[in-house]
Amino acid sequence: MENSRTHIAPPGSGTAWARAFSILYDPFLWAAELAGLRLHRKQLLTQARGRTVEIGAGTGLNLPHYPGDVTELILAEPDPAMRSRLQKSLSRNGQRARLADAPAEALPFPDGSVDTVVSTFVLCTVDAPDAALREIARVMRPGGQLLIIEHVRSDSPALVRWQDRLARPWRRFACGCRCNRATAELISACGFELEHACEASWRAMPPIVRPLIIGRAQKTAPSDAETEPQSAGQAQPASARSQLSGG
Ligand SMILES: C[S@@+](CC[C@H](N)C(=O)[O-])C[C@H]1O[C@@H](n2cnc3c(N)ncnc32)[C@H](O)[C@@H]1O
Repeated sequence: MENSRTHIAPPGSGTAWARAFSILYDPFLWAAELAGLRLHRKQLLTQARGRTVEIGAGTGLNLPHYPGDVTELILAEPDPAMRSRLQKSLSRNGQRARLADAPAEALPFPDGSVDTVVSTFVLCTVDAPDAALREIARVMRPGGQLLIIEHVRSDSPALVRWQDRLARPWRRFACGCRCNRATAELISACGFELEHACEASWRAMPPIVRPLIIGRAQKTAPSDAETEPQSAGQAQPASARSQLSGG
């Protein structure tokens, strides 16, 4: 059934800072894109296929990397300032894609209708990542895939202390982003198995957001996605991270 919940606006959406952030976003990431992120995006997105939904598509930095195997591309972006930049990127690239004003927690697609969901640096920002992951599981076809690049809570106790200390100011600066969120654990707790995943470093970015996971996740079993997961919160169970290999 298509989700008919009311629209959930991202935190800070519509403010002057959110507008400024959307303008500063590409220049802020410029060095990091050149230092390796662009290559990570390209390598990840070679796996995209079929009907593809990108959540929190931002300014459209993934757009140049979608392969021909993608038969339909839908870019879901709930923030109006980001969406307007996304529209400009699309026009500039002459690319065919549909824009949707939708948060990851309430995707306007029927159950089991999407082959690939893409999330790059979005699960750190959504207010309810467990709800977003359940929604991704709902729209995904059997055999569908979730492709992710996310920065995560560090394994290093020293860095984690800084991630926790700076979480609040970073969140204000980066429009809702939680630098200390244990996203790999959340993905597993919400009924996905992270496979072909690797850890990497987000070079040329502040250390608190450098630890990355990059990979592909599939639903472990349809019933898992329908049950209420335990909230992984900021906890640090070993299960999901131990599946990752160095990269
Ligand atoms: C750090 S940016 C990432 C942009 C892009 N995905 C990238 O790889 O550069 C986070 C994006 O998530 C969007 N966002 C915030 N809350 C969201 C939500 N609840 N659902 C989907 N996207 C959300 C923001 O508007 C923003 O575009």
